[in-house]
Amino acid sequence: MKVAFFNTKPYEQNSFEAQLKNSNHKFTFFEAKLDKETAKLAEGHDAVCSFVNDHLTPLVLKRLKNCGINNIVLRCAGFNQVDLQSVKELGIKICRVPAYSPEAVAEHAMALILALSRKTHKAYNRVRENNFSLAGLTGFNLHGKTVGVIGTGAIGKAFAKIALGFGCEVIAFDLYPNEKLKKIGVKFLDLQEVLDKSDIVSLHCPLTAQTHHLINKDSLATMKDGVTLINTSRGGLINTKDAISGLKHKKIGFLGIDVYEQEENLFFENLSEEILMDEQITRLMTFPNVLITGHQAFLTHEALAEITRVTLFNLDQLEAGVSLENEIKV
Ligand code: NAI
Repeated sequence: MKVAFFNTKPYEQNSFEAQLKNSNHKFTFFEAKLDKETAKLAEGHDAVCSFVNDHLTPLVLKRLKNCGINNIVLRCAGFNQVDLQSVKELGIKICRVPAYSPEAVAEHAMALILALSRKTHKAYNRVRENNFSLAGLTGFNLHGKTVGVIGTGAIGKAFAKIALGFGCEVIAFDLYPNEKLKKIGVKFLDLQEVLDKSDIVSLHCPLTAQTHHLINKDSLATMKDGVTLINTSRGGLINTKDAISGLKHKKIGFLGIDVYEQEENLFFENLSEEILMDEQITRLMTFPNVLITGHQAFLTHEALAEITRVTLFNLDQLEAGVSLENEIKV
């Protein structure tokens, strides 16, 4: 198939080009995001490949259809950016990569915890300036701490196992408690109980109407003073304004986030020459006990290779017209 690849980043292009050598598909890599203006670039192709922040709105989908596009492959798991009703009405087939490397995200969550708990982010800068003083770098052990995991799907499960390996007591909440995790020592409790008992809370549930602003001033109020809060899931799980207030009042001792409520206009781009207009992220960056990464938890060689492999597999199945393993059913 001839595939129009939108929103290309160099690391993705490298990964796809490496595997395309063994494939019949031909890719055109466009740097542009997919939107109502750029959709026409798809003309002359059989399929479109898009990412998590390419919004497949009714208008974009209609324009793609007018360009002759009947196949879309998402190179991500989430599909909240897709208007599925239009996909159905236009008769477009759409596939995704359901799970590529839960361990990549789980390990990044632990990396955020370790950096914050041992102040590695501060030590790195200090030592580079020949400042070998240890004042202010006292950390805390993870061994023996209570870690609360919210959402024990693929990523939460991998994270819980890592935390158990560190000698933490792991408690968890999920709508569907995981029997295998129970057997290896994870205790499932009510949501509020998990939040209240944890020294460290790590969020691994999806963003839904139910989980939107799960962390807010009310839930924070009963959490432990100085709690460490980690979010590698979706920004909307945390009410940022309330988190800032929690940091100011020392309710939150450490905050590590790979996702941010208003990340859409910031993340994945180099804005180092720009003036940031987002007051909340600039405030968050002023706290010494906050560590922010720009939605990179998935970004490992292993995960990229798997995203590429599954995307090419989805294209093979679309081309062959067989029943689609990774189709998003509308
Ligand atoms: P999954 O679907 O395997 O697991 C999600 C779990 O959350 C399920 O066990 C589900 O029962 C549970 N859940 C649903 N509603 C809940 C609620 N109201 N309260 C508690 N638990 C609830 O998903 P997976 O692969 O583990 O991914 C989790 C999240 O991680 C995704 O939704 C996505 O937002 C995020 N993610 C972030 C990435 C990054 O680079 N930062 C990369 C990939 C995913």
